[in-house]
Amino acid sequence: MKTTEPNPGLQLDARGRLCHLLTLDGLPRELLIDILDEAEAHDKVLRGQDKKQGTLSGRTIVNLFFEPSTRTRTTFELAAKRLSADVLNLQVSASSTSKGETLFDTLKTLEAMQADMFVVRHEASGAAHFFAEHAAPGVAILNAGDGRHAHPTQGLLDLFTIRRYKGGGVGGPSNDCFKKLTVAIVGDVLHSRVARSDIHGLRILGTKEIRVVAPPTLVPAGIEAMGVKVFHELESGLDGADVVILLRLQKERMMGAFLPSLAEFHRDFGLTRARLAKLKPEAIVMHPGPINRGVEIEGDVAYGPRSLILNQVSHGIAVRMAVMSMILGAPAPAEARSPRSRR
Ligand code: NCD
Repeated sequence: MKTTEPNPGLQLDARGRLCHLLTLDGLPRELLIDILDEAEAHDKVLRGQDKKQGTLSGRTIVNLFFEPSTRTRTTFELAAKRLSADVLNLQVSASSTSKGETLFDTLKTLEAMQADMFVVRHEASGAAHFFAEHAAPGVAILNAGDGRHAHPTQGLLDLFTIRRYKGGGVGGPSNDCFKKLTVAIVGDVLHSRVARSDIHGLRILGTKEIRVVAPPTLVPAGIEAMGVKVFHELESGLDGADVVILLRLQKERMMGAFLPSLAEFHRDFGLTRARLAKLKPEAIVMHPGPINRGVEIEGDVAYGPRSLILNQVSHGIAVRMAVMSMILGAPAPAEARSPRSRR
């Protein structure tokens, strides 16, 4: 498949408003904070009894997933439904792309049904940009993960979770918290679009120190240029960390011999209860899911008191509602708004 080079400029209109979300790379800090604040307002509505808003009534959102997904696809669908949009879920294995229809033809066919927004996941880096470059005017593209490149809503929900738990909680979060934090991203960084989006977002918010912690075979060459410190040993990589983001070992993207064995990876880089006990007492543990139990994380740690893995899933709904409603020009209700976060 022919894809185009990422073009971050594509996602902002002439007035600097978000019209597609393809990557966090290059987003202005103010806009990123606006999205997190908007997500706080949606989260407040979601914590009430009536979780539905009528703001996207009459709009059509198409979920176009060319790769498997559990939480991203379902939370995008739920987010759209909470905003009263009509949602189409295209099962790609059952669609005409498996008969050879090109991405371009799939896009144009679905556009003819007056879709307003496409949520796209694809194994090729650049697929969401390709869609955005070819979409009709007024049709928005949200990247739900393209190859190893970017997963911007996961990056946003990770920032939202960190700000919520390290920046003063619900209602008055502080964006300055990032300036005091050391964040360690551990595991299969090489194949991870989540790691890239997290790093971009954390940098934009001025994070004190961003570390990647992995065996040399799972660190992309030149990643230091993204402003991170590389550690090839877990103990030093976790020393003094406030936030630990674990990554799934992406066996399906591993063509070569990246690791001697899963057991060896677990021995050297897995987060066990013993290693958890050595973290700072207030350090938090995150993982985008799905987890490989007993590989990058022990099951007890994943569901233990320090883990925010399920909170991340819930926050994904509010964050996706924020992005959808901001792009389609329908903000959260005024009564759900707290004063803007401390900037
Ligand atoms: C991630 C993805 O698909 O990029 N998962 C997710 O969206 N929650 C990470 C992964 O698959 O390991």
